[in-house]
Amino acid sequence: MSSNGHADLPVPALARRSQALKGRVRVPGDKSVSHRSLIFGALTIGETRIFGLLEGEDVLNTAKACAALGADVERVGEGEWRVRGLGVGGLRAPEGVLDFGNAGTGSRLMMGVVAGNPITATFDGDASLRRRPMRRILDPLEQMGAEVVDAAEGGRLPLTLKGPQELVPITYESPVASAQIKSAVLLAGLGAPGETTVIEKEASRDHTERMLTHFGAEVTVEPYGEHGRKVTLKGRPELKPAPIRVAADPSSAAFPLVAALIVPGSDVVIEGVMTNPLRTGLLITLREMGADISFENERVEGGESVADIRVRASKLTGVDVPAERAPSMIDEYPVLAVAAAFATGETRMNGLSELRVKESDRLAAVAEGLAQASVAYRIEGDDLIVAGAGAAPGGGTVETHMDHRIAMSFLVMGLATDTPLKVDDISFIATSFPTFLSQMRGLGALIDTEVVAA
Ligand code: S3P
Repeated sequence: MSSNGHADLPVPALARRSQALKGRVRVPGDKSVSHRSLIFGALTIGETRIFGLLEGEDVLNTAKACAALGADVERVGEGEWRVRGLGVGGLRAPEGVLDFGNAGTGSRLMMGVVAGNPITATFDGDASLRRRPMRRILDPLEQMGAEVVDAAEGGRLPLTLKGPQELVPITYESPVASAQIKSAVLLAGLGAPGETTVIEKEASRDHTERMLTHFGAEVTVEPYGEHGRKVTLKGRPELKPAPIRVAADPSSAAFPLVAALIVPGSDVVIEGVMTNPLRTGLLITLREMGADISFENERVEGGESVADIRVRASKLTGVDVPAERAPSMIDEYPVLAVAAAFATGETRMNGLSELRVKESDRLAAVAEGLAQASVAYRIEGDDLIVAGAGAAPGGGTVETHMDHRIAMSFLVMGLATDTPLKVDDISFIATSFPTFLSQMRGLGALIDTEVVAA
């Protein structure tokens, strides 16, 4: 095991054409909300109780970072955690390096937290995270008075960030629609006097805003332009402990969901999935493609709308996915590309530039994976066009490039390809969906991890 928990040696797997998938699953807690639960707990005086926390490597690294900054973080049962924090502005400088492993969200949100405290901390991560751009976070934090003491080329990890004694509140118009940028600025803004505002031209996921309100901060959200939002936070609030129930992650639910759509005869229910409208772009798109997806038992849990999602195998037709939908399904394009391969006709996914800076260059990784499965596609600028043929041959080996979602997407594809599809390394699945294999197998998916060399 590496310091981040996943196996050092690659773990290959082979997915094979499966019989109809049947049954009910509850996928783990939402990753975005899980990171934020721990972070808000650390910024609150008193005890925050969390239920249904995702216990994946990414979130566990955030838990370790919160503890290193002085919070008391305790696991009391499966998915049940307690955090006793030190309040806004009360965190301590960590002794060692904060290692976030593979996690962009954990590292970037925590940069905002550190900037909002008069402390210095060093951030690091694995080879994938070290390649990812951090300037987009550091730029606004520097405007607020934080200092980048040291950083690798281009402002990348490892880097050392120093929070100022007196932070300056800013109005920041984000150049990209990114919940990570918005959240880092707002988290820093907690420590600033006066109002910190973030403007985004397209609305990104709003968990930070919702949780700020849940913990007692004053936040206003106004529409901005056609698709955007303006979020304003009143600085230096006293955050009050509040229990959090984490709904199931729609980005993880996407894998059994697409699997059920493409494996003939399937009928699957995914329980308690968060249906926050800023996370449902995939469901909208799949329904446009003709997918039989229905919501059952709709309810509100922990301040988020939730439903049991029933999905039945469906004949899909290619569609055009507008660029402005990207923020609401940014993590779902790899698995949408899989669904598109089994559709009839072209699916055009527009405006995917942000995919190039995820855990891998996802545009390139998806394209390579489709090629390995002998699925026709082309890339035009930042658009991916998949030529669906109603079926996919399979047969190759997909490189995951340290990217959990590439691994899961192509394992899902292999459940319906003519010949098995191999994935070179599934160890990174543990960052976001540690129960993926067992839960997929529980539905009837044929995935072997002891791959015999071809
Ligand atoms: C996340 C925001 C998204 C998403 C990531 C989680 C978050 O990133 O890809 O998996 O929790 O804020 P960007 O905000 O950079 O698009």
